[in-house]
Amino acid sequence: QDPRISNISSAIRVIPDFPKPGIIFQDITTLLLDTKAFRDTIDLFVERYRGKDISVVAGIEARGFIFGPPIALAIGAKFVPMRKPNKLPGEVLSEEYSLEYGKDTMEMHVDAVKAGERALIIDDLVATGGTLSAAIRLLERVGVHVVECACVIELPELKGRERLGEKPLFVLVSST
Ligand code: PRP
Ligand code: MG
Repeated sequence: QDPRISNISSAIRVIPDFPKPGIIFQDITTLLLDTKAFRDTIDLFVERYRGKDISVVAGIEARGFIFGPPIALAIGAKFVPMRKPNKLPGEVLSEEYSLEYGKDTMEMHVDAVKAGERALIIDDLVATGGTLSAAIRLLERVGVHVVECACVIELPELKGRERLGEKPLFVLVSST
């Protein structure tokens, strides 16, 4: 394992019973305070995706907006925000996805990408994989090839990786 990973893992704060009892919250805001750990996080993704002919980094609101843009700039790709509903002003495509309780919707500007482009999807964390799956569907509906999904943290017990099926998932830290 890359020696930078343990430092990144230690910089993530774990808060029990947030936002409700029984949930163990993985707080990446402390990673952002650690300039070396934050830089290493971005560098590890950039080292993996540089030279892979990726023209789109799709970041998922909200925390994919923190990690996605520096990666996009470093690999020379455009950044495309995948947003909560009714936030984007242009023509959008929407995908519903299920949460632990209830549903949510994700939207993307249709003119942000073109068929045949190669995309990387970025978020902070994968739990059940429902969020990443919705992002994959949105991009594939317009003919974009999703090369991989990448997150800082995976909660393997929630089997998000299985939900993504064949689609490759790259994570830095697995949290048990
Ligand atoms: C969290 C996290 C991921 C998603 C993962 O976001 O940041 O985006 O859940 O869950 P899943 O793999 O089970 O779909 P959340 O929906 O809490 O919204 P936020 O990032 O806007 O706070
Ligand atoms: Mg999120």
